Amino acid sequence: MKKIKKILSMKNKRKIVCLTSYSYNITSILDKYCDIVLVGDSLANVLYGMSNTHKININTMLQHALSVKKKIRRSLFIIDLPKGTYKTANIALKNSKYLIKKTGCHGVKIESNSKNYNIIKRLTKAKIPVMGHIGYTPQFKKKFKIHGMNEKNRKKLIIEAKKIENAGAFSIVLECISKKTAKSITKNLKIPTIGIGSSVFCDGQILVTDDIIGLSGFKPKFVKKYLDVHKLINLAIKKYSKDVKENKFPSTKNTF
Ligand code: KIV
Repeated sequence: MKKIKKILSMKNKRKIVCLTSYSYNITSILDKYCDIVLVGDSLANVLYGMSNTHKININTMLQHALSVKKKIRRSLFIIDLPKGTYKTANIALKNSKYLIKKTGCHGVKIESNSKNYNIIKRLTKAKIPVMGHIGYTPQFKKKFKIHGMNEKNRKKLIIEAKKIENAGAFSIVLECISKKTAKSITKNLKIPTIGIGSSVFCDGQILVTDDIIGLSGFKPKFVKKYLDVHKLINLAIKKYSKDVKENKFPSTKNTF
């Protein structure tokens, strides 16, 4: 709860830094710089090469979360509830408790289908911190599009965000929402908004780590690539392959 309070207190003070992690090694770096580390169900696409996030199950999420947990020291640790694990409030409560018990995570994230506010209410009543998620919600939307581009959709999203806040969420991810709408939502809420493809007018930012280090090969407009890890790994493996073929590895230095 102390960490949740800290995130809440950051609104209008300092931008909240968030990234995804699926593993121990990446978390050991992220934990030094991030306020929130999310085990996102994006691991379905990013790690397992699936075409969407629909088939990833809770036990796969759990395995990655257990790996992440080992290197969480200071950040808030959140796990995505995957599709189908929060069909009803009872199912959501059971699955959230399971993830919290096994991993010690600080809360869960659930995507909004514009109706599941009762689920957030039920979880927060049970003292489970919930992060909401609106706009482009991959578990429920088939087609990618930018949300909040017209007045009608803008109003709908502002209402949806307010309902999520009123249901008790401690923050809300705004995914691929227009600048004007993201700005209005952020202004209207007391809880922090965390943007992904939703402009600088959010209280914080989240991206998929594999995208910003150039490992996933996914580079939509809203992603900034800070490194080309793919290129670096390619170089290393090419050199290793050459060394093995030419008997240069292992050398005496690597031999007992
Ligand atoms: O699954 C995920 O990684 C996410 C973030 C990108 C917000 O939901």
